[in-house]
Amino acid sequence: MKLFKTIDAMQKWSLQEKRDGKRISFVPTMGALHEGHLSLIREAKKHGDVVVLSIYVNPAQFGPNEDLQNYPKTLDADLDHAKKLFVDATFLPTDDMIYPDGYQTYINVENMTKNLCGASRPEHFRGVTTVVAKLFNIVMPDSAIFGEKDFQQLVTIKRMVKDLNMPVEIIGHPIVREPDGVAMSSRNKYLSDEERVAARSLNQSLEFANEMIDAGETDIKKILLKVKERIKSESISKVDYINLVNANTLEDLKEFRRPALLAIAAVIGKTRLIDNHLFE
Ligand code: PAJ
Repeated sequence: MKLFKTIDAMQKWSLQEKRDGKRISFVPTMGALHEGHLSLIREAKKHGDVVVLSIYVNPAQFGPNEDLQNYPKTLDADLDHAKKLFVDATFLPTDDMIYPDGYQTYINVENMTKNLCGASRPEHFRGVTTVVAKLFNIVMPDSAIFGEKDFQQLVTIKRMVKDLNMPVEIIGHPIVREPDGVAMSSRNKYLSDEERVAARSLNQSLEFANEMIDAGETDIKKILLKVKERIKSESISKVDYINLVNANTLEDLKEFRRPALLAIAAVIGKTRLIDNHLFE
């Protein structure tokens, strides 16, 4: 596996691969890789001749009181995983390269970043779209894989690519869960045993809503109320939001219509977790 620590080296390699007629498939991450990330790498193999992984904890997408300083770092294990999955190249930039002195260009997808996570993390998606656009310019992929776990991120990136005519196919990949149903996340490491039990209620309440909808319930207020009741019974510090939105635009639904997304964010102890269920 090639390891690139400069933008120039990464770009040159990608250009040569493209000249050789290779299709590049790309998986951007912030490291601390788990089975969710690894499933994206496996998916990438289906879409390209060569797979590029990036590991970069992007400061621009963290708010002032968020966990940037404590974000888990497991580089050696990450690189082992990447090698085992036959990743062709891993890109490891530093903050000085991505945001050098004088940096002042940001990308903002206007509307769909305002609700759900955008409401409590106002700068977050601006940071995500900016770094992803930069990574696309550096890696020059034909396709890029993103998890549906971060559904708002996925649709925001799809919107950016469409609006800015970027020649990259964006591929979404389903949520990978732990055996107990908790969506895999680098942040699960922060949970105590007790908090871990509370974390299960996120997925459980999504399943509960799924059963209500399957049984023919269409009253959104009723569905959201029941889900809230269910979550409140657990030791959850704060429910940030529970929303049913149009899965394409992320606008709040007035009446249930597919494709819909039921999305939850909750703070358990000090850890903010998100989960969602897609009604296709
Ligand atoms: P990170 O949180 O490391 O996630 C990298 C990719 O893995 C994202 O596309 C995310 O949706 C996906 N992912 C995480 N957990 C998953 C799970 N349980 N199942 C399926 N996919 C999962 O998301 C980011 O990094 C950053 O915002 C990034 C796009 C790299 C930009 O900095």
